[in-house]
Amino acid sequence: MFKLGDLILLFSLLITVNGESETTKGPLRDMEFPILEGRPVVSPLHIYQFVPSNPSSTDFRLSGEVNGIFEIASDGWLKLVGTLDREKKALYRLQISAINGRGDTMEGPYSINIIVEDINDNVPVFNQSEYFGSVRQNYFPGKPFLYVYATDLDDPSTPNAKLSYSILQQIPDPYKKLLFSINNKTGAISINHDGFQNLDPTKMDTYELLVTVKDLEGMSENAFSNNARVYITVKDNIWQSPQPQNVYENSTQPHPINITKVTWNEPGAKYELQEIEKNIWRWPFSIDQDGNIYVTRPLDREEKDQYVFLAVVKDTFGKMLSYPIKIEVNVLDINDNPPVCEKAVTIFEVQENEGMGSNIGTLLASDMDQEDTRNSLLIFRILDQNPKIPQNDLFRVDLFSGVFQLNSTGLQKKDADQYNLTVEVADEGFPTALRTICDVQIHVIDINNEIPIFEKSDYGNLTLAEDTPVGTVILEIQATDGDEPSTGSSAINYKVHQGDQKGHFEITTNPQTNKGYMKINQPLDFETFPVYDLVIQATNPEPLVKGVDYTEDSFTRVKIFVSDVNEVPVFNQSIYQAQFDEDIPVGTKLKSITAYDPEGDEISFEISNDKLNWLNIDKRTGDIFSAAPLDREKQSTYEVTVRAFQKNAEYLSSSVLFQLHLNDVNDNPPRLAKDYSDTFFCHPIAKRGSVLIEATDDDYSRFGHNLKFELGENQNIKQDWELHSINGTHANLSMKHTNFEIQQYPVHINIKERRPSPLETNVTILVYICACTDTQTCYYEVPGLEQYKVVLAVGILLGTLAFIGLIVAVVFIRLNQKKKDEKKVDATYAKTPAETSQLNI
Ligand SMILES: *[C@@H]1O[C@H](CO)[C@@H](O)[C@H](O)[C@H]1NC(C)=O
Ligand SMILES: *[C@@H]1O[C@H](CO)[C@@H](O)[C@H](O)[C@H]1NC(C)=O
Ligand SMILES: *[C@@H]1O[C@H](CO)[C@@H](O)[C@H](O)[C@H]1NC(C)=O
Ligand SMILES: *[C@@H]1O[C@H](CO)[C@@H](O)[C@H](O)[C@H]1NC(C)=O
Ligand SMILES: *[C@@H]1O[C@H](CO)[C@@H](O)[C@H](O)[C@H]1NC(C)=O
Ligand SMILES: *[C@@H]1O[C@H](CO)[C@@H](O)[C@H](O)[C@H]1NC(C)=O
Ligand SMILES: *[C@@H]1O[C@H](CO)[C@@H](O)[C@H](O)[C@H]1NC(C)=O
Ligand SMILES: *[C@@H]1O[C@H](CO)[C@@H](O)[C@H](O)[C@H]1NC(C)=O
Ligand SMILES: *[C@@H]1O[C@H](CO)[C@@H](O)[C@H](O)[C@H]1NC(C)=O
Ligand SMILES: *[C@@H]1O[C@H](CO)[C@@H](O)[C@H](O)[C@H]1NC(C)=O
Ligand SMILES: *[C@@H]1O[C@H](CO)[C@@H](O)[C@H](O)[C@H]1NC(C)=O
Repeated sequence: MFKLGDLILLFSLLITVNGESETTKGPLRDMEFPILEGRPVVSPLHIYQFVPSNPSSTDFRLSGEVNGIFEIASDGWLKLVGTLDREKKALYRLQISAINGRGDTMEGPYSINIIVEDINDNVPVFNQSEYFGSVRQNYFPGKPFLYVYATDLDDPSTPNAKLSYSILQQIPDPYKKLLFSINNKTGAISINHDGFQNLDPTKMDTYELLVTVKDLEGMSENAFSNNARVYITVKDNIWQSPQPQNVYENSTQPHPINITKVTWNEPGAKYELQEIEKNIWRWPFSIDQDGNIYVTRPLDREEKDQYVFLAVVKDTFGKMLSYPIKIEVNVLDINDNPPVCEKAVTIFEVQENEGMGSNIGTLLASDMDQEDTRNSLLIFRILDQNPKIPQNDLFRVDLFSGVFQLNSTGLQKKDADQYNLTVEVADEGFPTALRTICDVQIHVIDINNEIPIFEKSDYGNLTLAEDTPVGTVILEIQATDGDEPSTGSSAINYKVHQGDQKGHFEITTNPQTNKGYMKINQPLDFETFPVYDLVIQATNPEPLVKGVDYTEDSFTRVKIFVSDVNEVPVFNQSIYQAQFDEDIPVGTKLKSITAYDPEGDEISFEISNDKLNWLNIDKRTGDIFSAAPLDREKQSTYEVTVRAFQKNAEYLSSSVLFQLHLNDVNDNPPRLAKDYSDTFFCHPIAKRGSVLIEATDDDYSRFGHNLKFELGENQNIKQDWELHSINGTHANLSMKHTNFEIQQYPVHINIKERRPSPLETNVTILVYICACTDTQTCYYEVPGLEQYKVVLAVGILLGTLAFIGLIVAVVFIRLNQKKKDEKKVDATYAKTPAETSQLNI
């Protein structure tokens, strides 16, 4: 939209362009003339012809800063006869008067200002012809370590003095790519991603850069340029992960014990340790201000066999000086766990007629020390046999497997019916082998040549009410076995062989009498299984001797009829609860109580115990309504009993508890709904990024939360960020520009409830601008030491489209060692599998 003033301006410009004669000629008055600096093309330059309005004026007089380069002729032409140089003098103040023949002033004096306009006639100049700087290997890429600086005398308000820096050449160029970059506006020199990967003082420690500065914003072929040399020394970076440390568990030395050391390149740095694995019980490490790392208590490999954490270096203001580095501590096993016998006494049975070499059983033992080492390798030895009748060495045990075998041809019960063996189980561990004694009893039993025989082949028909409780014994059965009593040859196991797929019944045996007790194992239901036709089998735990088999005598039958019972109504839930604000209107539906009758009869509901008469129930549907204004101050949890009964048989009823919780007052300030502590964007910022911020409020709110998000007061924050509320719980934090440096940016955000007497919270989200790998992972790496590569990745927050999930810290450790199974360090916390796999470097 044009305004009136714009129109007038436009109009006067048109006059200037079209009416050349009018503008180069006119009466005396105060005037200004802009003239380009330098030597005019036509000299003298005719500037303006003054026409006196008083007829007696015959000549003119020019005074002021004439400086010998301005003249006025008697015909009124003001001329420039010399050369202008804006950089020397940008404004000439002249006065002009018209005079008569006697030299008397007839008109004026009027002031004439000559404004010298800039042309690009100055070459930019570096303030030094050579610059010297140094940078550490693995310095943050993108973070400046040296500035070059040039000036241009031209008018700073014009492009003539707008400078742009660039790197022309790098000597030497061993990788055929630039290792450094320069900020074209500020002249800040930093190492780039390639430099971060490749700079290595042991291979090449000095570089020379030819740096160019151009004016006209570097955009024009006509720009003036100038060069400077930059000499860069690459220095060693001793801030590196130390070798993984090994610490023996359960150390008896006095703690803390100095285990390793990290060192920053310059003195005066502050060190901290950061845990990256969660839930470490009594964090056992510390660091002192010389970078020495200590273990503060004896470790236990059986509890945790490896620790991985980070060492952080900060300046005295608490700002990180570099990437954190990884510290790895492996806990070495000592043999501090003796073998353990699985049972206090292990009992094996062996039949009289078993031959030499028969397997008798395996002695089970274990050792908690590290697997696959001598600390847990078990060796079995029989130390003693009792009685030694008919001889010693009746049994042998396999040295490594603990398998027992007969070392004689057949045992005789008349010699001995039981042998007690003393067995040593030992490991071969360091520093001392540990041993345990396990007791083994070997029972010699009669051969199993008799089968169990049922007293009846059919137990007939049995009728059970469907509500017979689980666990009720419904039938006793009996079979007998002619083998030696109290052995596995005569013991009887009963099982339902057929007719009970769902396992409604189980049978237990009394070992003294071999009587079987059949019990209900799961509730019966007439509606689903009205009849069971069961076949029951009796077997011995010991195998039968060759040539003998179970026959039909070891089977019996029973038929079970389930009878229908008019059952009480059943509620679908064991308790019903609802939660509402105390100010809900009378008649609000609070809950549906649901119940059904197993026989399908119609049910009615009623409420009892409604002391404050707050509630109503719909007899038919079970819906509960508020019947009066509720008051949290009177009762914050209101309990009533709901009874459901059959319409045709009111005595068949059941009850359930209904609890109404009335809402608390507004006593929780808003809070962030997620963890944003590790938000990052990759440097350089390709596109303005954004983060979706979600907050919540622990107070119950029927209509959802209504929160207001605002940036904190700090001026810098508002220059860099903007925050738009999306709805009552979400806001969009987005960058205002892309010009961020590698560092952490704290963003203070105020979150406030929109309600009367609101509560508020101030939170700070730390946004990390960091260097990234190609897979957008914020990282740190030590070239040449591949196996100690650490990737500190916090999430993928590329400035793309909408959002972008929020991901917790991810530290991926690749260890140059065997895969560990259960006890391996699990330190990967990523949101999606795709992202996790990207970290798999
Ligand atoms: C040149 O400029 C750089 C960067 O601003 C500055 O550090 C340096 O001191 C200046 N050199 C001289 C000689 O003024
Ligand atoms: C200067 O750098 C900015 C971004 O780094 C880039 O957009 C711009 O094109 C550069 N200017 C020149 C003249 O190279
Ligand atoms: C540590 O060693 C002592 C003997 O040196 C032992 O008694 C103790 O059980 C061990 N503790 C652990 C946790 O292994
Ligand atoms: C820690 O150990 C290092 C060598 O590993 C040693 O130089 C240093 O003096 C020790 N510091 C302390 C406090 O024992
Ligand atoms: C097995 O018995 C033979 C003799 O009967 C004896 O020499 C041998 O040592 C026994 N083996 C073991 C492991 O006891
Ligand atoms: C074997 O041990 C059991 C239980 O410790 C004991 O009752 C029995 O007398 C022992 N038998 C012999 C032969 O030592
Ligand atoms: C068991 O019930 C069936 C009918 O299902 C009947 O045929 C049979 O005679 C009954 N047996 C006994 C022993 O009552
Ligand atoms: C209650 O349970 C019965 C039986 O399982 C089922 O048919 C009915 O749909 C359930 N009602 C509700 C509301 O869940
Ligand atoms: C608020 O906006 C966020 C982001 O657009 C969305 O995920 C969320 O469902 C919205 N909440 C409501 C209550 O509309
Ligand atoms: C949040 O910060 C603002 C301004 O900095 C301050 O006025 C307010 O009291 C703070 N609120 C809380 C809960 O700290
Ligand atoms: C957040 O703001 C950025 C920049 O204004 C925009 O590109 C992005 O789509 C916004 N995200 C959401 C979820 O509104």
